[in-house]
Amino acid sequence: AWISRNNIELCHILQRCTRKNRGYAMSDKFYVSYNTVHKLIKGLAKKIEEEGFDPDVIVAIGSGGFIPARIIKTFINRPIYAVGISYYGIDHKHRTHPTKIQWIDEVQEQLRGKKVLLIDEVDDTRATLAYCVGELLSYKPEEIAVLVLHNKKKKKDVEFPPEIKRYYPALEIDDLWIKYPWDAEDIDEHTRKEKEMLEELNGKKEN
Ligand code: G4P
Ligand code: MG
Repeated sequence: AWISRNNIELCHILQRCTRKNRGYAMSDKFYVSYNTVHKLIKGLAKKIEEEGFDPDVIVAIGSGGFIPARIIKTFINRPIYAVGISYYGIDHKHRTHPTKIQWIDEVQEQLRGKKVLLIDEVDDTRATLAYCVGELLSYKPEEIAVLVLHNKKKKKDVEFPPEIKRYYPALEIDDLWIKYPWDAEDIDEHTRKEKEMLEELNGKKEN
């Protein structure tokens, strides 16, 4: 089977956890290991394939979308274009709007008429994602599908335009601060914390 039993179980555990995570003590941080990222992406790749969406190109929003994009390439082998959009400019100053810090000038023609799979790690306020979608739509792609590891269930600052017909969040979670593995200084500790968190959350279920 494409998604192993393990992966289905992982998704169920995580969904259960995210549903009851308001009372979670270690809080309000949600640890995510590399293994989990890989499994979540694999599950989404399967779903995308089953739905018959066959992207021509992958666009990764950096920096958070880079590693998820590379992982999905293992399952959906398409060229990856990288864009950098951030509230922080190259001068590291915080802005009021997301700004481009790196763009795909030379390949923007490549998006015309293409099916694009846009990838980021988290859908938080949606500001970055919606801004990026708006910019990419100006290159007249056939379609843009949006994939994120985590969608935070909260009031969004902006909505996606109606052109976005496919939206793939691997997990819907409450408004917690997610700790991604690529930000970890000690990856063993990070992985251990995810394990403890999942055990604690899972334990609550039995109570
Ligand atoms: P959105 O469109 O994806 O909702 O992004 P938004 O502009 O709201 O997010 C601002 C920045 O905050 C983004 O980083 C986003 O990745 C980061 N962020 C939001 N929530 C979390 C979280 O729970 N955990 C972590 N680790 N980051 C979060 P950025 O400016 O794009 O920088 P980069 O880290 O992707 O390079
Ligand atoms: Mg980001």
